[in-house]
Amino acid sequence: MVMMMNNQEELLSKIATGNGHGENSPYFDGWKAYESDPYHHTENPQGVIQMGLAENLLCHDAVEEWLINNPEASICTAEGLNEFRDIAIFQDYHGLPKFRNAVANFMRKVRGNKVTFDPDRIVMSGGATGAHETVAFCLANPGDAFLVPTPYYPGFDRDLRWRTGVQLVPVVCDSSNNFKVTIEALEAAYGKAQESNIRIKGLLITNPSNPLGTFLDRETLRNIVSFINEKNIHLVCDEIYAATVFTDEPSFISIAEIIEEIECNRNLIHIVYSLSKDMGFPGFRVGIIYSYNDAVVSCARKMSSFGLVSSQTQHLIAKMLSDDEFVEKFISESARRLAERHNAFTWGLSQVGIGCLKSNAGLFLWMDLHHLLKEQTCEAEMELWRVIINEVKLNVSPGSSFHCPNPGWFRVCFANMDDQTMEVAISRIRTFMLKNKEAKVPKKKLCWQSSLRLSMSSRRMDDFLASPCMSPQSPLVRART
Ligand SMILES: Cc1ncc(COP(=O)(O)O)c(C=O)c1O
Repeated sequence: MVMMMNNQEELLSKIATGNGHGENSPYFDGWKAYESDPYHHTENPQGVIQMGLAENLLCHDAVEEWLINNPEASICTAEGLNEFRDIAIFQDYHGLPKFRNAVANFMRKVRGNKVTFDPDRIVMSGGATGAHETVAFCLANPGDAFLVPTPYYPGFDRDLRWRTGVQLVPVVCDSSNNFKVTIEALEAAYGKAQESNIRIKGLLITNPSNPLGTFLDRETLRNIVSFINEKNIHLVCDEIYAATVFTDEPSFISIAEIIEEIECNRNLIHIVYSLSKDMGFPGFRVGIIYSYNDAVVSCARKMSSFGLVSSQTQHLIAKMLSDDEFVEKFISESARRLAERHNAFTWGLSQVGIGCLKSNAGLFLWMDLHHLLKEQTCEAEMELWRVIINEVKLNVSPGSSFHCPNPGWFRVCFANMDDQTMEVAISRIRTFMLKNKEAKVPKKKLCWQSSLRLSMSSRRMDDFLASPCMSPQSPLVRART
């Protein structure tokens, strides 16, 4: 076996034999647990419920209805077949002009028509995954680094680093101030990188945030732009969740708005976008790089040959996103349904004393279970996570996989399931919490089940179940409808 490994290492590249993909993380392990025992209402009611996938399935019915009413949008229907030949041979890496126009319009609408986007700056890629890698290739050399505020989407460790040789340096943001991205935290990370002779080429932010479900306020965004300007480093803004914001006040602020307001070097600003979350089309692999830097647009466009969006998809998306009436209705209905689901879920959790970071965007909740940890460590978080996966049968993702510095946080996705599955998930959590409480009270000490090795004093558990605010040190807000 060892010989075979050595042999493979000689035969194959470092990329092929290395672990740069990062598949061996709890984030992906949870998916595997789900795949080996997937929940189904009737066929496998005891199976694992997938709550680790940030998918948006809540408005697919509206898309299906549009497809039925617009059969000519597809070249695979009798109504659309006359465009088959033109579309089937199209392979220009600039993309179909009607596709770029439609995406630029959609990006404007999603941002409340407060900013416009130039279709000539729209570069396509294989999802936001491909977009991030392309941007990293354009901005940094192997060994260079990007700052990334914590907690952050685990896929970044793969997307930005694996094939580019670029590094990520965490900017430590924690629960003491609701994970706010402060200048102090940015300066600290930048300074530390400099001490270690790591060259920082940029800052990557996700707005709205995955996993927090919050979005950045105007002051923070302005500070961030001033920071990158002063350091003369790039700012990459992942705005993939822009249309998942389900509150009008405050409204989502895109970086595109901020750079209209304050003096800055626009050559440093780049937006990554995709239709995977806002439209719920991760399978279409529609990723977008929108750069204000001409050289980046030009290089990224050439690189897009490695991850073009198929012309068939471009054709369909162009028709769908240029239907203004449909798009406007879709955006508002999607926000309404996300709010409804978010409220139902946070309310269900609050009934058993579980709090979440107050949020108003995204496809997930950032749930605080730190009171359930045996001790405030990463290991204890993993122990609890194994209980949740193996006993409660929910695939949620532990905070450590998002580089969260505080143990006990878990990301719970809520938009990838129907109402019935959501009810089952909430009832499993309720049973878990009540059983946990019952197990402790008579014995005057808390222990879940010996095999689960989760413990807490009964006093603390009572406090925990009764308290409107779970954590004294983390200013989380109890889930509210
Ligand atoms: C913040 C963030 N960026 C990028 C991606 C990748 O998206 P895509 O499916 O478009 O590649 C995800 C997916 O979960 C994400 O959450």
